[in-house]
Amino acid sequence: MTRGKFIAFEGGEGAGKSTQARMLAAALAERGSGCVVTREPGGTPGAEAIRALLLGTAGEGWHPRAEALLFAAARSDHVERLIVPALAAGKWVICDRFVDSSRAYQGGAGGLGDADVMALHQVGSQGLLPDLTLLIEVSTETAAARAHARDGGEADRIGGRDGAYHARVASAFAALNKAEPERFARIDGDADAALVHQAVLAALLLQ
Ligand code: TYD
Repeated sequence: MTRGKFIAFEGGEGAGKSTQARMLAAALAERGSGCVVTREPGGTPGAEAIRALLLGTAGEGWHPRAEALLFAAARSDHVERLIVPALAAGKWVICDRFVDSSRAYQGGAGGLGDADVMALHQVGSQGLLPDLTLLIEVSTETAAARAHARDGGEADRIGGRDGAYHARVASAFAALNKAEPERFARIDGDADAALVHQAVLAALLLQ
């Protein structure tokens, strides 16, 4: 059995990742390839429970190290129970966010640093990386408009952080892409969803 491909969508808030993940799954289904669409934090019952702890706005919140540990724990469950078995069964796995989000949000914007985030990832998920990470980049205006349309001003604990935090997230993603260009495809997410989808297919050589 040929191992399936592991594709992650990454980017800031309101980049359109979830829409693109669904459109890619439909395109793969049309081509007869089995695939699993999943998301982080979450994807398994245990990881969804950790998601609620991370993103809920009740209580005092987590300091950066605890936050990074919780993301790594959720990812560990997701990798062991869902991602690795699906890949081994020959399915594609399309994941809305993966470890590059921890590197950009906790490592970059949160100030933890990349080495600590990757050390947690090694322990939790044996350092598993996607075959390709599609980094969807949008202007600040597009991101704000989409996030507002979706959340109606009720952002989660991390989405609701200030503009300076989200600017650091965007520059951390850009730095990851620059440092590891072979792992990333950069996609302009400002266009309408159908055009962005065409760029996604082209990046995956599926056109
Ligand atoms: P979600 O509603 O899935 O956000 P979006 O639709 O914008 O992708 O919420 C996930 C939030 O968690 C988002 O603000 C990014 C953040 N996050 C991290 O900070 N680190 C991580 O490792 C992951 C996976 C997500």
